[in-house]
Amino acid sequence: MSGNPYRSVGQRVTGQEFVGRADLLWRVRSTWDGSGLGNLSVQGFQRMGKSSLVAQAVEHDAENRPDLLFTSLSVGDHDNGPMLFQSVLRTTHEQLVSRSLASVKPYLPVLDGIVAQAKGIEDDGELRDQVKTYYRHLTNAGVSTIVVLDEFDRADGVFTKLSEFQVLRSLASERFSIGLVTVSRRPVENIEIDAAGGSTLDAVLSLRCDVGCFADKEIDLLLARALQAGVDLSEHRAALIKCAGGHPYLLSLLCHEVMQIHQQSGRIDVPAARRALAGQFESQFRGLVKTLDTVSGRRGEYLLRKVAGDDAGSLPNADVDLLTRLGLVREEAGVIRLFSDEFQQYVLRTTSVM
Ligand SMILES: Nc1ncnc2c1ncn2[C@@H]1O[C@H](COP(=O)(O)OP(=O)(O)OP(=O)(O)O)[C@@H](O)[C@H]1O
Ligand SMILES: [Mg+2]
Repeated sequence: MSGNPYRSVGQRVTGQEFVGRADLLWRVRSTWDGSGLGNLSVQGFQRMGKSSLVAQAVEHDAENRPDLLFTSLSVGDHDNGPMLFQSVLRTTHEQLVSRSLASVKPYLPVLDGIVAQAKGIEDDGELRDQVKTYYRHLTNAGVSTIVVLDEFDRADGVFTKLSEFQVLRSLASERFSIGLVTVSRRPVENIEIDAAGGSTLDAVLSLRCDVGCFADKEIDLLLARALQAGVDLSEHRAALIKCAGGHPYLLSLLCHEVMQIHQQSGRIDVPAARRALAGQFESQFRGLVKTLDTVSGRRGEYLLRKVAGDDAGSLPNADVDLLTRLGLVREEAGVIRLFSDEFQQYVLRTTSVM
């Protein structure tokens, strides 16, 4: 018996398990695919596939670019700003040492020294200078670095001072040595304002990549993964989409459950799989509404209710654009609808007419 092809659901997926996203991959990779490095803010609602997208893009190029290091960290793994910056430095340095590039050898003693010295520094300004000096030496040695900060939403707790965002801004402004990629559910401006009452980072992270639901072709690719276990889900496509739409996580979760049931009983039973996942669907739907509320100035329920009630036409274009960009709605024969029928029912059930 082959295993469940969807067993990685919930984890960051890369390699063979990663489906679609060709345009977005290109967009992320173009941050480092040229002479100088750029900066990018990858944004999308919970579980839309942001971390997987960036990890896949990095995996694509990590091996074939000896002159480029990828330092990927999760902001949430750090207690405070200085710890995060020290971690950025340490991780970059570990990779550099493991590459043993001839061009870097002469610079290693001084780089080793900076990393050791930065260890105990708490002061933002001093730390920034050390980090900048480190990356400047690295640039002289012909090596650049992409710093990926995942779960950037957590920066509003990890950074407690505006000056810490300024350190990041200052690093990201060093165009030719560091490229900064942040990954978050909320816009950077929103995260930064929460923390410090003013946006410094937004300007350097003006390029954005929005990650929403899968398009039709990507849905087909995800369902086709079941063929590895000899199961054809294509005739159950409509039933699966009704529940999960093209939401990468919910659709993967549902396919996983369908395959589990199939392995036990030999039957494809989408409604039974959906019943088994009632709690998870409910909590994801709730999370989407909550995040939309946060990013739309507490208008989330109102906007969703309008679309769920087939009244998207009365919304200003800017609101429809926002919902489209976030991947919460799709257009069907000229009508704007929520990404799945079940999400629509959830919205109608849990929100009131305003
Ligand atoms: N391109 C993809 N191919 C296959 N499955 C995917 C893809 N993108 C996302 N998924 C599915 O969605 C799940 C969530 O993906 P991921 O963790 O990358 O999302 P995220 O947006 O980073 O979530 P969070 O907001 O919680 O950080 C994955 O575990 C996987 O099951
Ligand atoms: Mg993530």
